[in-house]
Amino acid sequence: MAEIPAEADLVVVGAGPGGYVAAIRGAQCGLDTVLVERGDLGGVCLNHGCIPSKALVEAAEHAAVGDAAEMGVTGDTALDYGAFADWQDGVVDRLTSGVASLCRSNGVTIVEGTARFVDDGAVEVDPPAATADAAEIAFENAVVATGSRPLSIPGFDFADDPVASSRDVLDLDERPDRLVVVGAGYIGMELSTAFAKLGTDVHVVEALDAPLPGYPDDVTEIVQSNCESLGVSFSFGEAATEWYEDITGDVTVVAETEDGDRSEYAAERVLVAVGREPATDTVGLDATSVDVGDDGAIETDEYGRTAADGVYAIGDAAGDPMLAHAASHEGMRAAEHAAGRDVPGGDAPVPAVVFTDPEIATVGLTAAEARESGRDVTVGEVPFRSNGRALTTGDAAGFARVVVGDDGTVLGGELVGPHVSEVVGELALAVTAGLDAGTVARTVHAHPTLSECLMEAAAQTRGEAIHAPNR
Ligand code: NAI
Repeated sequence: MAEIPAEADLVVVGAGPGGYVAAIRGAQCGLDTVLVERGDLGGVCLNHGCIPSKALVEAAEHAAVGDAAEMGVTGDTALDYGAFADWQDGVVDRLTSGVASLCRSNGVTIVEGTARFVDDGAVEVDPPAATADAAEIAFENAVVATGSRPLSIPGFDFADDPVASSRDVLDLDERPDRLVVVGAGYIGMELSTAFAKLGTDVHVVEALDAPLPGYPDDVTEIVQSNCESLGVSFSFGEAATEWYEDITGDVTVVAETEDGDRSEYAAERVLVAVGREPATDTVGLDATSVDVGDDGAIETDEYGRTAADGVYAIGDAAGDPMLAHAASHEGMRAAEHAAGRDVPGGDAPVPAVVFTDPEIATVGLTAAEARESGRDVTVGEVPFRSNGRALTTGDAAGFARVVVGDDGTVLGGELVGPHVSEVVGELALAVTAGLDAGTVARTVHAHPTLSECLMEAAAQTRGEAIHAPNR
C-alpha cells in the first residue's frame, strides 16, 4: 500500500465493483487518482457476496449430480465443506489480487485506511493501527463508493451466533444441517437453492405471499416449484418477529401472520436476508454539502453528482438498483464526467439476474410497464422445451420473453431457464442499442445454444418463429 498523498485529482472512497472501476477509469482518463479502502479490495461483491455465493451455487450444482439419473449418470457424490471453503477462498483471492494489479498497472494509488470527509474538498485517511499517522488528501473530485450492508429486523442481531447475514453464512466452515431463511428475495432464494442441493434442510419464511418481489408470477412460480422439488419448504404471509435458543442449541424462529397467528420453525441457524441498506453514515458526510435521504442513500443527479461540487456517489451508496454491475457502470460514468469527458447521463438499462435454479434474468421494460407508459407492445414468448440445447441440459423449464414496441424496437424481456444469466447480455445489448426485433431474429445464432430461444422469441413478434407457434 502506498503512502498517503497530500492531494489528488480524484479520490475514490471504497474499492468495491463501483469504486475500483471508477478509480481505474479515472486514471485512464488522466486523473491523478487515489483509491482508499479500509477492508479488502473488491468490496462485498468479490469477498462476501456475488463471487463466494456463486462459488457455492456452482459447487451445489456439482454436488447435486444425482439429478442426472435420467441421463443415465448415477453415483454418489460427497461434499467436503472445508475443502469447498478453501477453494472458494482461492477464487476470491485470485480476483482480489487481480484488482490490485489492475489498479497498479493503470496508475491508481491504493491507500489502506478509513476515509472521512473533512469538508467538500478533502478527506482524512486513518490508516490501520500503528502503520502511519492519519493524513488529509485535498481533492478536485471525489467518488463515494461505500456500498451497503445487510439489513436486519427487530429482535435479530447478526452479533448473535445462530443469526447469520448472507456474509456470515458464506463464511461458514461447515454446512448447516437445518436452516431457516427469513426473506424470499434474491439472497434468500439463491442461498436456499444452493444449500438445499448440498443437503441442508431449508425452510423459508416470507412476509409477502410470493417469493422474489417485483418479478412476474409466471417467472417466480417456476423457480418456487423447482425449489420445492429440491426439498425447500415455504411459509408465505408470515413475518419473522423473534427467535429463541433451546437447551440443545437449536434456534426457533417465531413468525406471525397479519392476523397475529404465530408459527415456530426450528433449525441450527437462521439466515436473515431482508434487504440491504446504503452504508453512508461512517464516512463523515455530515461535514459536507452532500444530501443523504432518510433511507441512507446519497442523493445524486443523472451523472452521479451530489449536492457538493466535485463529489459523486455511485453504487449501493446511492441507492437502487443495488447491483454490482450498475455500480461499475455508474463508477465509469462518474470518473469520465469528473475528467471532463462528454458522457450520456440518465438511466441505462440494467439487467438483473437471480442465480436460482432455473436462473432468472431480466432487462428493460416488462409488457405491463411498457403499456403503462402508453406504448402498444407485441410480446414474443418461447418455451425452453422447444430449444434443443435446453433439452440436453436435462432441465428445460422456463421461457424467453421479449417485449417489442409498435415501431419494432426491443424494449425489454424476461428469461427464466437454464443458464439465462449468460443469455441476458444479448437482450441488454438489444435494449441499450434500441435494436429492432428483426435484427435479433435475423442475427445468425450458433446452434445448439440457449440464445436461440431469444432469437425465436424475437422472430415470433414478427410472425416468423420456426420452432414455436406464431400467435
Ligand atoms: P430483497 O429485497 O431481495 O428481499 C427481501 C425479502 O425479505 C422480501 O421478500 C421481504 O418481503 C422479506 N422480508 C422482510 N422482512 C421480513 C420478515 N420480518 N419476515 C419475513 N420476510 C421478510 O433482499 P435480499 O434478498 O436481502 O437482497 C438484498 C439485495 O442484494 C437485493 O436487492 C439485490 O440488489 C442484491 N443482491 C443481488 C443479487 C444478484 O444480483 N444476483 C444476489 C443477492 C443480492
